[in-house]
Amino acid sequence: MTAAADTTVLAQRAARLEAADALGDLRERFDLPDDGSVYLVGNSLGALPRAVAPAVADAVQRQWGRSRVGGWNTEGWWAAPQRVGDRIGALLGAAPGQVVVGDCTSVQLHKVHLAAASEARRRSTGTGQPVRRVVVADPGSFPTDLFVLASDARLAGLEVVLAAPPEVPAVLAARGDEVALVALSQVDYRTGELWDLPGLTRAAHDAGAPVLWDLCHSAGVVPADLDAHDVDYAVGCSYKFLNGGPGAPAWVYVPHRLQAGFANPVPGWNSAAQPFAMTGEYTPAPDIAVARTGTPQMISLLALEAALTAYDDVDVVAVRARSLSLTGFALEALDALVPEVEVVTPREPGRRGSALALRHPQAWGLTRALHARGVEGDFRAPDVVRWGVAPLYLSHADVLAAVVALRAVLDGGEHEAAERAERPTVT
Ligand SMILES: Cc1ncc(COP(=O)(O)O)c(C=O)c1O
Repeated sequence: MTAAADTTVLAQRAARLEAADALGDLRERFDLPDDGSVYLVGNSLGALPRAVAPAVADAVQRQWGRSRVGGWNTEGWWAAPQRVGDRIGALLGAAPGQVVVGDCTSVQLHKVHLAAASEARRRSTGTGQPVRRVVVADPGSFPTDLFVLASDARLAGLEVVLAAPPEVPAVLAARGDEVALVALSQVDYRTGELWDLPGLTRAAHDAGAPVLWDLCHSAGVVPADLDAHDVDYAVGCSYKFLNGGPGAPAWVYVPHRLQAGFANPVPGWNSAAQPFAMTGEYTPAPDIAVARTGTPQMISLLALEAALTAYDDVDVVAVRARSLSLTGFALEALDALVPEVEVVTPREPGRRGSALALRHPQAWGLTRALHARGVEGDFRAPDVVRWGVAPLYLSHADVLAAVVALRAVLDGGEHEAAERAERPTVT
C-alpha cells in the first residue's frame, strides 16, 4: 500500500477510535490556536486552560487589589496549599489532607529525602539494629532528583546505590535491611517508560523500606492510586500534564500515617502548628501542613487551581484509557508510515506512560523541521525526539497529523538543513 493509501486508512481508524473514546476531546477547555498545529510538549509545559486567565485577573485585580492583606483570610489564601493539594490528590488516589502544594519539585525531594532519613533513625532507636542509611535510586532519574539526593546524602551521611527499576528488587534482596528509602520516578522522562509502581512499592515494603515516587511525568495521566498502594511519599510538579503554567508550584504527598513523624528539614513558619504564635519555639503542624515551608506563591497557586478545573468531572481512569488509545494509535501510524524511525518507548500498554520517544541520528533536525510544520515536540540529546501526548487536548487526528508531517519531513530531507540550526540552551 502507498503512504497516501495508508494515510486514508489511518484517518478512518483515527475517526473510529475518537468516536469510541469514553472521555472525548476536551480541547475546548484549553486556549489553543486553531491553525492545525499539534502541541506535543504537554509533558514539559501543559497548554493553557481557558479558566486560567480570568482567574489570574481576579486574583490580581480583585483579590490582591481590593482584599489586600485581608485576602489571606477572606480569599482563602492561607488554606490554598492544602485545598489545591486535595484537588491534585483526587487525581492521584489520595484521600484529602495528604497532599500540599508549594515550592518546586527539587525542594520537595530534599524535604522527603531528609525526612525519610530521620524516620529511619527514629525507627532504629531502641531496637539495637543499625540505622538504615542506603537510598536506592534510578541512575536514569531526571538530573535534579540525583543532584538533590547526592547533596542530601552528604548532609545526612547516606549512601546512594544506583539501580534501574528492574534491578531494584535484587538490590533489596541483597541489602534490604540497610535501605532507608527507595526513590524512583513512575515514568522515565526520556523514554516515556512506565515503571511498576505497585510492584516496586511492595518489594520495598517487603524489605521494610519506604518509597518515594516522583510523579512529574505521570500526575494527571496515569492513576497512581497512592493510598491503595500504601505509597510512603510522592512528589511532582504541576506544570506538565496538570497544566498549571510555567513555574507552577510543586506538591508533596505524605500520608496521614507518616505526618506526625515527618521531620521537615526546611521547617519554615508555615509548617508550624501555630504559625502566628510568633514564639520562636517550633512545634510542627499535626497535619499535612507540616510539609509546608514559607509563604505560598499565591498568584501561581491560584492559576494552578483554575487550571485544575480542566479536570472537572474527569475520571483519571478515562484519561489513562484515552492516553493509551492515542499513544497506541501513534505507534500504529509510525509503524505504517515511518518504519525507519525507532520508537524507544515500550510497546506494551502497561509499560507506556503518556509520551513517546523517537530515536533518529538527526533528532535535532527532525524536531526543528517538524516545528516549522506546526508539530511541536522536544529534543533530548543526543538523538531523541520526545512527543508528549496530553489526552485532554489531543485527538487521534492530531497524532496522525504529526506522523504524516514526520513522513513529509523525511521525504523532503527537511531535517538535513534543520540539523544545522543553532541549538537553544533551553528546550
Ligand atoms: C522527573 C522530574 N523531576 C523533577 C523535575 C523538575 O523539578 P523542579 O520542579 O524542581 O524544576 C522534572 C522537570 O522536568 C522532572 O522531569
